[in-house]
Amino acid sequence: MSDHELRVSKIRNGTVIDHVAAGQALNVLAILGIDGSEGEGVSIGMNVPSDRLGRKDVVKVEDRELSQSEVEVLSLIAPEASINIIRDYDVVEKSRVDRPDTVTGLLSCPNRNCITNDNEPIASKFGVVADGVRCAYCGDIVRDDIAAHLDVQS
Ligand code: CTP
Ligand code: ZN
Repeated sequence: MSDHELRVSKIRNGTVIDHVAAGQALNVLAILGIDGSEGEGVSIGMNVPSDRLGRKDVVKVEDRELSQSEVEVLSLIAPEASINIIRDYDVVEKSRVDRPDTVTGLLSCPNRNCITNDNEPIASKFGVVADGVRCAYCGDIVRDDIAAHLDVQS
């Protein structure tokens, strides 16, 4: 993309989460627990043109380098995402997201009768399967719109 087409400014230091599925940028921030309340610089491009994806979202978080475990959960909603670590304006590290084996305490089970929805002090736990995530307690599978089951405290 040439400079005159750039929608969101380059950043000096931080993390650029690129090639996020169009429309998922706010869910990416939710999954990372980033809401701007700590004064961090956050820029978001939504539905920007992309050669590879047609349309994509981009999330730039300044002065913060995401850890590999933070990045893992992103794969659930942004499997195509690439993570770019920026230092002094240069991309010093570029990686793709990895699918984790399990996700604990981040998603809520859609099954009302599941023990994790029973006011018991039990953290939710899902196994990551080919077509979604599967509750480790009741076996319910969430296939579509995993972000809708995000259990995010604000
Ligand atoms: N970027 C940024 N600030 C910088 C450097 C890069 O915001 N100082 C962003 C770019 O706008 C781009 C992403 O980080 O969205 C990756 O940068 P780069 O590797 O230079 O771009 P591409 O080669 O297009 O990346 P890819 O091959 O992953 O599409
Ligand atoms: Zn369950």
